[in-house]
Amino acid sequence: MSKINQTVGELLEKQVNNELYASNLYLQMGFWFESQDWEGSAHWMFQQAKEEREHALSIANHLLDREWKVKLNTINSPKNNWESPLEVWEDALQHEIVVTNSFKGIMGEAKNEEDYQSEELCYKFLAEQVEEEDTLNKIIKKVKAFDGNLGFYVQYDQYLGQRE
Ligand SMILES: [Fe+2]
Ligand SMILES: [Fe+2]
Repeated sequence: MSKINQTVGELLEKQVNNELYASNLYLQMGFWFESQDWEGSAHWMFQQAKEEREHALSIANHLLDREWKVKLNTINSPKNNWESPLEVWEDALQHEIVVTNSFKGIMGEAKNEEDYQSEELCYKFLAEQVEEEDTLNKIIKKVKAFDGNLGFYVQYDQYLGQRE
């Protein structure tokens, strides 16, 4: 594959870091759920953390295949305390919206540079973002519909714990 353009390379390298931040954010959310004894929700978050790490690796692979020397940067500490499960899920969705916008930006730059390979990579991730946002939206709707009903969340937590 052809050597990657500087601007697109820098943006994708930044995205590697963003995905690692996302992985840590979901880990931290998992730790919070564990601390509140919501083990199913914690499990869901740990699975998501793994996926985000895989995203980072997949982008890094693309860069390496395009002769870009991938450098990791400092990863900021994520937020670590929430008032309720709902607040955690809402933060997760907000984060995914940021990621979606970030991929849109990279896509625009890849188009400018006629870097079709990076465009293709962004398409793949943007399609994945539609799913991630949809999943979180649905969880939030359910949690909101049963607002304050702990009995519901006990059951729902078990359901979330089945995620593979
Ligand atoms: Fe991701
Ligand atoms: Fe994500």
